Amino acid sequence: MAVLVTGGAGYIGSHTCVRLLEAGYDVVVADNYYNSSPAALERVKKISGRDFKTYEVDMLDKPGLEKAFEENRIDSVIHFAGLKAVGESVEKPLLYYRTNIGGTLNLLELMVKYGVNTIVFSSSATVYGIPEKVPVTEESPLSAINPYGMTKLNIEGILRDCQAAQPDLSVVLLRYFNPIGSHKSGLLGEDPKGIPNNLLPYVSRVALGIYPHVNVYGGDYPTKDGTGVRDYIHVVDLAEGHVKALGWAAENKGAGVFNLGTGEGYSVFEIIAAFEKACGRRVPYQVTGRRAGDAPIVFADCRKAKAELDWAAVRGIDEMCRDAWNFVSKNPEGIK
Ligand code: NAD
Ligand code: UD1
Repeated sequence: MAVLVTGGAGYIGSHTCVRLLEAGYDVVVADNYYNSSPAALERVKKISGRDFKTYEVDMLDKPGLEKAFEENRIDSVIHFAGLKAVGESVEKPLLYYRTNIGGTLNLLELMVKYGVNTIVFSSSATVYGIPEKVPVTEESPLSAINPYGMTKLNIEGILRDCQAAQPDLSVVLLRYFNPIGSHKSGLLGEDPKGIPNNLLPYVSRVALGIYPHVNVYGGDYPTKDGTGVRDYIHVVDLAEGHVKALGWAAENKGAGVFNLGTGEGYSVFEIIAAFEKACGRRVPYQVTGRRAGDAPIVFADCRKAKAELDWAAVRGIDEMCRDAWNFVSKNPEGIK
């Protein structure tokens, strides 16, 4: 029996495959390599010392995706595959709805056809919109402020509806906060194509000398130093959360929703300082205007994941920055 990992060649997916293989699960990966490379999966095999089947397939190609179900005994699915660039989602909403929602519908229909009763879904802290109160709990109000966020909210709703209609289904909605860092080996890491939107990939490219400085989006927020505060979580801790989610699903029918963060908030200035310490280089910055749609401060209440999944993040900010730098300095051109 195997776990089908959609988007398994991507940043979070590849780290999760390593943890699953280490924990004794068999995996099958489906990915179209739109934002990744098959080389990442070769690296997963190297780290874990285990082989697994891979399917190069678009989630929208249902007959192609069906092969993974036909040719393997799949008993659960972890669904990472999708598009995730907020700005692009504003420009191309239909592409985001078609890919993220359409891909999920194909997957769910195949799960019904092949009697697969467990799905773990990559949701996001983006479903909390601009939170009125922090830390955010799983009960905090939900809203979407861009099409990407709307796809996450809609897919959460679709999965809950499917669970209500099919009581033997186990659905785990994992709301990730801000994943950073990389595997200790330096073989896997975040490898975004084009100019990065997120803070850490941008900071690391400044440290590499690719960009001259970090644009700090706003220095006048009501936070500890005026810059935006987020809950950064080590991607290996996040990967472990998926192993725990499968354990939860094995024992629980129903829909579980969990925040996966550290519960700590760090400002942009604190991140830049931690990264400078990790790489031993200066990371110049300029404070610019606020980015539209940004919340001043977001961090998670993770008590539910601790209580019900027996999961908590254990890696701190210095380790996250050290591991991120280890990857980018060894792979300045990404994973090829
Ligand atoms: P990623 O882009 O590195 O990984 C996504 C993978 O899905 C890639 O390998 C890509 O090639 C694949 N993919 C995309 N469209 C596909 C399609 N149509 N068919 C098949 N494969 C397709 O992103 P990631 O950071 O690893 O994120 C994984 C999931 O977690 C996404 O659903 C994302 O929305 C969600 N998430 C990410 C973050 C974050 O900050 N990285 C935060 C919250 C939620
Ligand atoms: C972004 C996404 C959000 C997604 C999350 C995790 C936007 C508007 N939101 O949120 O939907 O769920 O990533 O993938 O893109 N910053 C800078 N300079 C930069 C980049 C970022 O100052 O070049 C600041 C931001 O203003 C923010 C912090 O750094 O305060 C973190 O930004 P980012 O990494 O983009 O994550 P989120 O804002 O949490």
